[in-house]
Amino acid sequence: MKILVTGAAGFIGANFVYYELGAHADDEIVGLDSLTYAGNLETLEGAIKDGRFRFVKADITDADAVERVFTEDGFDVVVNFAAESHVDRSIEDPSVFLKTNILGTQLLMDAARRHDVPRYHQVSTDEVYGDLPLDRPDLLFTEETPIHTSSPYSASKAAADLLVQAYHRTHGFPATISRCSNNYGPYQFPEKLIPLMIANALADKPLPVYGEGLNVRDWLYVWDHCAAVDRVMRGGKVGEVYNIGGHNEMRNIDIVKIILEKLGKPESLITYVTDRKGHDLRYAIDPSKISAELGWLPATKFADGISRTIDWYLANKPWWERIVSGEYREYYEKMYGDR
Ligand code: NAD
Ligand code: TYD
Repeated sequence: MKILVTGAAGFIGANFVYYELGAHADDEIVGLDSLTYAGNLETLEGAIKDGRFRFVKADITDADAVERVFTEDGFDVVVNFAAESHVDRSIEDPSVFLKTNILGTQLLMDAARRHDVPRYHQVSTDEVYGDLPLDRPDLLFTEETPIHTSSPYSASKAAADLLVQAYHRTHGFPATISRCSNNYGPYQFPEKLIPLMIANALADKPLPVYGEGLNVRDWLYVWDHCAAVDRVMRGGKVGEVYNIGGHNEMRNIDIVKIILEKLGKPESLITYVTDRKGHDLRYAIDPSKISAELGWLPATKFADGISRTIDWYLANKPWWERIVSGEYREYYEKMYGDR
């Protein structure tokens, strides 16, 4: 199979590239990424050495560049991970979120249609469902839960989902959508909760917890998300949405305390800061559809996943230190500047 993976230099996209290269010996992958602040080509160093992987620097909102990629290679499947992904940034400056997440999805689908790509998968998020109350543990997001967004980020992802469904209905476009809960694991950019807390704790810097830290997220190890996307893009029913999650709801404050404990750092580093505007209270996924139809189940328990993640950040300090210092942005020039 020849796969186009967009957002391949980001957290989940890169993990997905490694997952596919490991799981399917005959697959070839073109990894496309515009290398925004969140894209880091160093993450793909291992894949670039593999003859089955090729990197293309391109922006999904650039129609000509996207067309060139589809002309150079014929794809069996396109998986769209490329997105602006950080809620706090979307509150400060939503325009790039609307451009990449909505228009980028449209341009990518138009190119896939022109080139008769037989399969398109849209990586979406549980945040399109809005939030659930903290005092109703019986309520979970199902695929039938109405779209009800809170942040410019989630609104842009929901708009993209609706567009994908519109293309399916209007053109018979062969698309699937998956909506996953919060991911954690190696290569996550240290602006998101878990890697930010690890990096700050290691530097003995304050750990900024929003509000009272009581908001709940449903954490899934990134590799389990990759396995689920793999199942959906190969075996999912066209036109369908699949929720992905592992029944692992945790309060932010409890995650932060686990990280401090594992790193042997004092809880006095916790600093409560002003809450995020419109802060979603609780996310919780009902994954029974993907389990029943595609046999997917999460393989990683949180206790193992968080230990593995902390160990990875400890063993790969240069990776995230170069991000914190901004040095990682020079890597592309060094590797590709004169090619
Ligand atoms: P990320 O921010 O780490 O990576 C996004 C990647 O997309 C970056 O490499 C960036 O350079 C690239 N990109 C951004 N704009 C682009 C453009 N216009 N053209 C080409 N490339 C562009 O995000 P992530 O956490 O890896 O998330 C990947 C996808 O998964 C997103 O669609 C996100 O909505 C979704 N998702 C994330 C989570 C999570 O917990 N991180 C959970 C569910 C769904
Ligand atoms: P984040 O990793 O940004 O993911 P999302 O908002 O998409 O779920 O945040 C996860 C939770 O952690 C969310 O409730 C906000 C909270 N949070 C903090 O308390 N402090 C922080 O510095 C960050 C980045 C997040």
